[in-house]
Amino acid sequence: MAKEARQTVTCTIDGRPVTVPKGVRIIEAAEQAGIGISHYCYHPGLSAPAMCRMCLVEVQGAPKLVPACVTTVTDGQVVLTESEKAREARTGVLEFYLYNHPLDCPVCDASGECKLQDYVFAEGRKHGRSFEAKRVLGQDDLGGDVAYDGDRCIMCTRCVRFMREIAGDDLLCVVQRGDRSVIDTFFERGLEASAWASNVIDICPVGALLSKDFLHKARAWDLDRTPSLCPNCAQGCNIDMDTRDNLVMRLRPRANPEVNSYWMCDYGRYRYEWFNLLDRVEEPMVRGPAGRLVRATWQEAVLGLVERLKVLRGETRARALAVASPFHANEDAGLLGRLLAVLGGGEAVFRSPRAEEEVVCPGFPRLARRRDLAANVRGLEAMGFRRVGDAAGTGGLDDEVSGKADVILVLGDPLADAAPDWAGDAALFVYLGAAPAAAAERADFVLPITQFAEQEGTFTNFEGRVQRFWPARQGPPLARPAWHVLGVVLAGLGDGVAPASAGHAFRRLSELYDEFAGLSYAQLGAGGALLNQRARLAAGSARGAEVG
Ligand code: SF4
Ligand code: SF4
Ligand code: FES
Repeated sequence: MAKEARQTVTCTIDGRPVTVPKGVRIIEAAEQAGIGISHYCYHPGLSAPAMCRMCLVEVQGAPKLVPACVTTVTDGQVVLTESEKAREARTGVLEFYLYNHPLDCPVCDASGECKLQDYVFAEGRKHGRSFEAKRVLGQDDLGGDVAYDGDRCIMCTRCVRFMREIAGDDLLCVVQRGDRSVIDTFFERGLEASAWASNVIDICPVGALLSKDFLHKARAWDLDRTPSLCPNCAQGCNIDMDTRDNLVMRLRPRANPEVNSYWMCDYGRYRYEWFNLLDRVEEPMVRGPAGRLVRATWQEAVLGLVERLKVLRGETRARALAVASPFHANEDAGLLGRLLAVLGGGEAVFRSPRAEEEVVCPGFPRLARRRDLAANVRGLEAMGFRRVGDAAGTGGLDDEVSGKADVILVLGDPLADAAPDWAGDAALFVYLGAAPAAAAERADFVLPITQFAEQEGTFTNFEGRVQRFWPARQGPPLARPAWHVLGVVLAGLGDGVAPASAGHAFRRLSELYDEFAGLSYAQLGAGGALLNQRARLAAGSARGAEVG
C-alpha cells in the first residue's frame, strides 16, 4: 500500500480530485478527469516542445501560468483551467494566431475538424483588431499525398516531430524565422520517400497539411465514421472508415497502443477504392436444367444447395476442396471450414499476396507493413487452411488440388488465374463472392456475399490478435455475409442452429476451433484479444501458483 502511494500523486483540477501515476502531465491528468485543455503542439504520441502556448493553466502558488503539456502533476497541486487569468491567456493566444491565419474556413478541407476553428468559436474574440494585410506564404507540394498551405500553418511543429520521432526520417523542417517561418522539405527530397508520411495530415491541427487524394471531396460533417480495421496487410491497424453516399472516402488511423499506436502506413491508407467496388454479384444464381446459370431467390438457392450437399454427402462421402480469401472475416472462413468438415473433410487452402519485405515503423517498431498483404492470413491458418500459390496470390489451385475434389467451395477468391474449365470435373462447384469471377461461370451456385466493409466480423492479425470491425457501407440489397449463408446451409445439413448475428457466428468459432476457445465479442472489446488467451491465462495462473 505504501509503495502504491509513492507511485501515484493526487491533485485537484477545477475542483475535481484526480489520482494519476507519478510523472503524468497536467494535460493528461485533466483528460482522465474529463476536462479538456486546449492544445496545438501537444500530441500524445509525440514529444512536447511547449511552443504553442495554447494550454496555459493556472497553478495555485505558481507566479505565472504554466503550460499543461509539459508540467507534471504534483501531490496536492491545485490547477485551474477556467480561471480568469487562464481564459484571458487563451483568448490572447487565439487572437495572436488569427493575426495572420486566413479566414478561409468555407473552402478549407479541415473545416469542421479544425482546432483553431473550434477554439476561436469557444473562446476567441468576437471581432479582430488588426487592419493590416495578412502575410501570404502560399502553397507547396511536399511530395507524396501531402499538400501544404503555408498561410494556415500555426507552426506547432507536430509534422516535423512526427517525421523525426516516428517515421525516423527528417524529411520536414522549419525554414525562415518569425512570421516568415514555413514548413519545407529538403531540396529534391520530398515526403514520397517515406512510407508513413500521410500521418502528418491527420495530426496537423489546422488545414495546413492536406491530402491531395481527399481534397475538396467532402465536408467533415457530411462523413459517417465507422470503426474498422485496415485489411491491406496482416498488421491489423485500427482505423476509422469515413463514408459519404455509401462510398468510402478516406481511411484514418484509430488509436490502439497494442497494434498501431496513432499511426498507419500510406500503403494501407490509399488502398480503399476496392471497398467501393461497383461490379458485383447482385443476386443468387443457380445452374438450371438447360445448363445455364439462372436467377434464383435466396430460399431456392439455399434449399437447392442443401439438397445437393445431402446427396453428395450420403452417396460418396464427397472429397471436398475449400478455397478461402484472406480478406474475409474469421466468421466467414470458420464456417466454410466447418462445412468442409461436415462434408467429411478435405483440403482447405488460401492464397495471399506477399511483399518481399516488411516496412517497419522506426518510432513504433510494433507497427510494420507486414509481408502478408491481406488481413486474415493468421486467422485462416488457425482454422486449418493451408497456404498455396505464389507471392502474387496466384497459382496453387491446379489439378493436384482441384482435380481430386468432388465438391469445390470458393469463398471470395477471385480465381483470376484459373482456367474457365478449372472446376470442370467436380460434381458440385459453389462460388460465394462479392465480385464476378470468370471461372465462376462454370459454378453450380453463385451466391452474392458482402465484403468486409459491409459487414460485422473479426480479423486475426499477424501475432494472433483477434479484432473486430463494423459495417461502414451497404452492399447490394441481396448480398449477405458469408457467415450467414454458410450458417443457414450448415443448419440445413443438421449442424447446429443458423447464427442470428456475427457475434453468434463468432461464438460458434470459439466452440469449433481450439485457438479461438474462450473468446467472445465482449472479451475482444475495443483493443482485441490474442488467440489462445484462455490457454495463456491458464498457463499464467499455473506459473503464478508455482511461484506463490
Ligand atoms: S503544417 Fe500543420 S502540423 Fe505542421 S507545423 Fe504547420 S500547423 Fe503544425
Ligand atoms: S501497416 Fe498494414 S494494416 Fe497497417 S495501415 Fe499499413 S497496410 Fe494497413
Ligand atoms: S500544447 Fe502546451 S504549449 Fe502547445
